[in-house]
Amino acid sequence: MKVQIRSKRLQILEIPVLILPVFQDKKVWPHALNFLIEHLHPVPDQLFQHPRPEWKLHQKRLIYTTHNRIPLVVLQGAGKESEWNLDKARQWWGAALQVMNELKEVKAGIYWDGQFPQTRDPENLFIECVAALHTAAYRVTHFQTEREELPPEVEMIEIIHPHPPKRLTKWLETGEHLGKAVNLARQLAEFPSNELTPQVFVKRMRELGEIHKWQLEVLDRKALEKKRMNALLAVAQGSDHSPYLAIASYRHPAAKQTVGLVGKGVTFDSGGISIKPSKNMEEMKYDMSGAAAVLGALSVVSATRLPINVVAALPLVENMPSGKAIRPGDIVRSYSGKTIEIINTDAEGRLILADALSYLEQKYQPDVMVDLATLTGAVVVALGNMAAAVLSEKDDLTRALREAGDLAGEKLWPLPLWEDYKELMKSKLADVRNISTKSGAGAITAAIFLQQFVGKTAWAHLDIAGTAYGMPAKSHRPEGATGFGVKLLWYWISSLSK
Ligand code: BES
Ligand code: ZN
Ligand code: ZN
Repeated sequence: MKVQIRSKRLQILEIPVLILPVFQDKKVWPHALNFLIEHLHPVPDQLFQHPRPEWKLHQKRLIYTTHNRIPLVVLQGAGKESEWNLDKARQWWGAALQVMNELKEVKAGIYWDGQFPQTRDPENLFIECVAALHTAAYRVTHFQTEREELPPEVEMIEIIHPHPPKRLTKWLETGEHLGKAVNLARQLAEFPSNELTPQVFVKRMRELGEIHKWQLEVLDRKALEKKRMNALLAVAQGSDHSPYLAIASYRHPAAKQTVGLVGKGVTFDSGGISIKPSKNMEEMKYDMSGAAAVLGALSVVSATRLPINVVAALPLVENMPSGKAIRPGDIVRSYSGKTIEIINTDAEGRLILADALSYLEQKYQPDVMVDLATLTGAVVVALGNMAAAVLSEKDDLTRALREAGDLAGEKLWPLPLWEDYKELMKSKLADVRNISTKSGAGAITAAIFLQQFVGKTAWAHLDIAGTAYGMPAKSHRPEGATGFGVKLLWYWISSLSK
């Protein structure tokens, strides 16, 4: 799908559908389109009357015209101007795409200038609207053989703006890169575990690395053994699929700092010997959503050439029960040297993240590290599907990540890392155990575990188990994998690079 800005010669604009926002408390018709009014028969009175209570978000009216180049105008409700915000903007733009699907129309114009109230940050607003179009348009269709029912793919959207400021083109590109990176993360997460094995994930990473000129370090089973990443290897040992720690670096000559990202990449989490109940187990294909989000973020950081260095470490494994699998009670020595008593093989994410975090910190020495992981069911109990948890001892980092999340529509809510919780993760035999001795505070104790594998580097952990999938569907974010974290990370890294 191509999205472009149309500013010139609107009189000769030729477009099968023109979509206009209508607010309940604002005049709808843009001056630049006055030439079209005489072609509306009859001119709907409501267009010029106030107030118009019927124009709720997503309500729409089709007006067929007598104009031969713009045969159809869609008036699409936008609610009250006074209540307009970023989230409503995303929904409106996603809904515009849905209208096109309903009409089976592959080209449309959307009128921008002066029609949408500006939010505090016009750049952010425009970027998010464009990204919403791209995420609304995208579906994972790889496994559907009967495709007749699907509407045709949208080819072109012209954003109509008689006097676009120069920077609009750059914002348009950023929005497109962001939307596509979110879609990449969604696609990876949506792919089933038989199709997306750790090895296939690495292949996708190599392909992207070619495009973006990343430096890659890929550790396979043998290399992991040599480096004694036994916590990561322990999780993988029950599976026939080889584990990997794949590290991609994006470098910029003007960079002043290096950001380290880690994403949990469990391509399927059966629980291992501590096997999960069969109900909803299929959802555990999404257990690599952290890795997918980090890969998406690295792609968009690269595409937008942010002046900063980013190193992304993705531990990729499958967690399966078998005769070779790790057992409850087994003790392994992690890469850091700390020993871990594995009480529950289903608390596997923290094991692979432990080795990835220590290795990233030691070898790449980033200035700051953030990990994203579908780590605990407990975070879903705490926050549901509306926000991810952020856990960090650095208040500035928490604040910056939460601000980025607000720009992205990816909410973060803080949970504490108080010293007292550490007691719960002590093992009688080893240095740490992988689950708490008591029930409760599962999202916190998981983060407390990770914390022991991070040295002095500023670090934040995002538990995205509730938001990687399972969020309520919206026009711009259909059901299933959400790509949560991609945009948030980009806004955050972009703010660091300024
Ligand atoms: N991948 C799961 C966490 C998860 C649960 C993600 C639900 C998405 C939805 C993780 O590996 C896990 O199994 N965690 C256990 C930890 C427990 C054994 C301490 C959990 O949350 O039950
Ligand atoms: Zn698990
Ligand atoms: Zn898991």
